[in-house]
Amino acid sequence: MTKPVVLIAEELSPATVEALGPDFDIRHVDGTDRAALLAALPGAHAVLVRSATQVDAEAISAGSTLKIIARAGVGLDNVDVPAATAAGVMVVNAPTSNIISAAELTMAHILSSARNLASGNAALKGGQWKRSAYTGVELYEKTLGIIGLGRIGALVAQRAQGFGMKLVAYDPYISDARAAQMGVTLMSLDELLAESDFITVHMPKTPETIGLLGAEAFAKVKPSVRIVNVARGGIVDEEALADAIRSGRVAGAGIDVFATEPTTSSPLFDLDAVSVTPHLGASTHEAQEKAGVAVARSVRLALSGELVPDA
Ligand code: NAD
Ligand code: MLT
Repeated sequence: MTKPVVLIAEELSPATVEALGPDFDIRHVDGTDRAALLAALPGAHAVLVRSATQVDAEAISAGSTLKIIARAGVGLDNVDVPAATAAGVMVVNAPTSNIISAAELTMAHILSSARNLASGNAALKGGQWKRSAYTGVELYEKTLGIIGLGRIGALVAQRAQGFGMKLVAYDPYISDARAAQMGVTLMSLDELLAESDFITVHMPKTPETIGLLGAEAFAKVKPSVRIVNVARGGIVDEEALADAIRSGRVAGAGIDVFATEPTTSSPLFDLDAVSVTPHLGASTHEAQEKAGVAVARSVRLALSGELVPDA
């Protein structure tokens, strides 16, 4: 009997293959190689991706035998969910797999930005002992503005409380009572921009959120604010942020995600006050194992015709 074909289109934790078990014909393809992806999809019953593979309408129609698209992570912006639904293909993700890792990287960027870790590191390794140039600020009693108080935003709030930060948030979809339970004061976006010493974004990339932090928003921030984006590239407009840093309106930034990925160029890369990481929010052994095992489980259930519970 032929086994159902499971196509793994990005590097996933070895735990993924272990959790799939022996019942599938597991194949691998580099999902960022478009021609190879389109050639590998016909005959596949499941495709597993992280965030670099575009599973768009063309890919879905190439995968005419697909039953499930599994995203080993949170964001579904690289999967055309309406096209999948129209084609009768289930889409699953692993919505809690990497939230701790993403929240921890956010804290790392907040701290790095406050204390000039990246620039101090680069200067010293480049032969310069510069102490006064890299005088930073404390997090204690500073206001952290969280835009998007969902799973990761809430974990960041908890962690920032440990540093004695005052927490405010803008999220039109959660209640004052829920925010208050987390020790967070909800406010309008303009109020948050005006009050925050640090601003961190944690919402999905949608037509509504693209460019949310752009030139107009930077004109309203507290001068000396620091900006962190470990959510999705494009929510913070890189060009506008670079301008705001050059003009001194924004003191610094920590950026994990970019409008175009992968990338080796951004207007932010020339600025000493910006520390960057190449989309590492979910890149821990723990998060990758959780994501791989969660989607493997969903694929097993879906391909044996069983109900796939919400994760
Ligand atoms: P979530 O769905 O739990 O929370 C998102 C929150 O954003 C929700 O509370 C929602 O109400 C709010 N929101 C939606 N639209 C908004 C708007 N216009 N203004 C303000 N708030 C809005 O999602 P999550 O798991 O917390 O993930 C947050 C983001 O982090 C996503 O973009 C996800 O793709 C990204 N992410 C990145 C990495 C990484 O590697 N850098 C890792 C995991 C997740
Ligand atoms: C996610 O949305 O889960 C992250 O961006 C991480 C990833 O895709 O690797």
